Amino acid sequence: MQPSTDAFVQFDRVQKSYDGQTLVVKDLNLSIPKGEFLTMLGPSGSGKTTCLMMLAGFETATNGEIRLQGRNINDVPPHKRGIGMVFQNYALFPHMSVAENLSFPLEVRKMGQAEREAKVKRALDMVQMGAFANRRPAQLSGGQQQRIALARALVFEPELVLMDEPLGALDKQLREHMQFEIKHIADNLGITVVYVTHDQTEALTMSDRVAVFNDGRIQQLAPPDELYEAPVNSFVAQFIGENNTMTGVVTAMERDRCVVRLDSGDEIDAMPVNVSRVGERTKVSIRPERVEFNRARFQPGAHTLRARVEEFIYMGDIFRTRLSVAGNDDFVIKTRNAPDQTRLQPGQEIEIGWLPQDCRALDAA
Ligand SMILES: Nc1ncnc2c1ncn2[C@@H]1O[C@H](COP(=O)(O)OP(=O)(O)O)[C@@H](O)[C@H]1O
Ligand SMILES: [Mg+2]
Repeated sequence: MQPSTDAFVQFDRVQKSYDGQTLVVKDLNLSIPKGEFLTMLGPSGSGKTTCLMMLAGFETATNGEIRLQGRNINDVPPHKRGIGMVFQNYALFPHMSVAENLSFPLEVRKMGQAEREAKVKRALDMVQMGAFANRRPAQLSGGQQQRIALARALVFEPELVLMDEPLGALDKQLREHMQFEIKHIADNLGITVVYVTHDQTEALTMSDRVAVFNDGRIQQLAPPDELYEAPVNSFVAQFIGENNTMTGVVTAMERDRCVVRLDSGDEIDAMPVNVSRVGERTKVSIRPERVEFNRARFQPGAHTLRARVEEFIYMGDIFRTRLSVAGNDDFVIKTRNAPDQTRLQPGQEIEIGWLPQDCRALDAA
């Protein structure tokens, strides 16, 4: 990849090995423009924290180059990179008050007292913790401590902030609240954020773009909607959201349509995504909300298959139905609760329909 001038952060062919043998980051190319909220999402052990640590300067890349505003920072020590950081374990100094915790990074930067006090106040107000300046960390709840950790990362007004699973220790409600708060603060300040999480909902909610990691490689880099609607391989399709899959063999192939003979013998049309030839094994993938069971609602051109109802769950806003379809007895569909929508009974034989373009033929892996 050419060094691009508008990239704020750039990983250029970065590799990392801790033991000199296995690469835990394999060939990372990633350009992050200024002001972007970029999330690294992936299962545990996929290399996310390692990437963040290399960017922060706490780990060195085995190969490749990391650039900040076009400048190679491989040999710049962490404290000279001007990067704010927030971790899951807040790492606040327990013997210092909240205000002293925030003041510390400014003292390190040799800032005068009046300016320090103004900046500390501003950072505390930003996270709505102005009234807690004199408390000790132990006198705060988990959520409040995480707010202070965030304020401390922002207090010296960095242009780049790195966050590694910062909300992992919080309960669901507080986590969701903080997701919006962090996103709003980042947007308001115009800072660039590189955020690490294994939580797909968090990634989809907060990010401008998401880099999906698996096994030390970026599998797909895309905005949340594209990631969900158009996964490029089986890993991403399975990792993001819920998906129904059925395996089979490609029996006909055109540019934007292929025919797949499922292992059950049924033939269906699908959109070829990463299959390329007749005879290839494939896993077709279709989202639960793209399948309809009410004939009156079938779209023109919908593909239909016979199905047997295994379970019907009323969930208020939606109905969740588990079906047996083409040998898959864990085929889930979600339909919106509407006045004309019928409710199904286990054992009922029905027909389901979907549009061929919503059915993606992916690698069989
Ligand atoms: N300091 C380290 N020394 C040796 N191996 C490490 C170290 N840190 C991480 N690893 C290994 O590198 C791989 C990627 O880890 P990590 O970057 O922490 O992944 P993630 O943050 O996605 O869970 C894992 O196999 C992990 O065991
Ligand atoms: Mg990690």
